[in-house]
Amino acid sequence: MHSRVMTLRIRPATRADADAIAALHLASYRAAYEGLLPTEVFDGLRAEDRRRRWHVSMNDPQRRTLIAQAGDGAPAVIGFAEVGPSRDDDAEARTGELMALHVMQSRWRQGSGRALHDTAVATLATLGFQVATLWVLTGNSRARAFYEAMGWNDDGTAREHLAWGIQVPEVRYRTVHPGHQVQESPHSRGGARGPGMTA
Ligand SMILES: CC(C)(COP(=O)(O)OP(=O)(O)OC[C@H]1O[C@@H](n2cnc3c(N)ncnc32)[C@H](O)[C@@H]1OP(=O)(O)O)[C@@H](O)C(=O)NCCC(=O)NCCS
Repeated sequence: MHSRVMTLRIRPATRADADAIAALHLASYRAAYEGLLPTEVFDGLRAEDRRRRWHVSMNDPQRRTLIAQAGDGAPAVIGFAEVGPSRDDDAEARTGELMALHVMQSRWRQGSGRALHDTAVATLATLGFQVATLWVLTGNSRARAFYEAMGWNDDGTAREHLAWGIQVPEVRYRTVHPGHQVQESPHSRGGARGPGMTA
């Protein structure tokens, strides 16, 4: 059984992290979406596509990616989050988006998601976003429970979104004044750092 108390280090990702993030992203798709998406989707996932996606993202000056690492200096990436301006056509001014948040399955429910989330929304606040939204697969009850625990609300907007070559049902969540609800958690104490971090 994993200890629930661990030291985490949250830091901005660099281009050198892109391949490790891509690998975790791919593994997380299987862990999170098996049973929610047709099996053909998983057969069609390509590591190269994920790597390309992250190399493009790392070069986008409007986006910020954060990664979680074990505080003991282990190099493995435990999780990552990505934020930036909302991509929605109906977004009001100063609306940011939490574009991705994934934690390695073996580390679920140990506080890494919360630590990444808190730094991600604090980053959005620092960038001047007053509202933030995210899209989540309608059937992803684990992630929905997590976001609700983090203070987000289903804003009543649903869509069919083309992803992985199929239309997937998604719902939008929203939080106002991102970063304000952030409180120090026992999981992040002494490890997670705010958006001004330099390490
Ligand atoms: C969603 C995800 C990021 C949560 O990360 P995590 O590290 O497991 O979350 P935490 O341990 O920080 O959980 C914080 C709180 O969220 C809630 N929560 C997390 N997982 C939950 C679950 N499976 N069921 C109910 N509540 C949950 C709890 O309130 C939890 O606090 P507690 O453990 O003290 O009760 C993780 O499950 C994940 O990576 N899932 C796969 C990828 C994914 O679906 N990402 C979202 C895409 S939109």
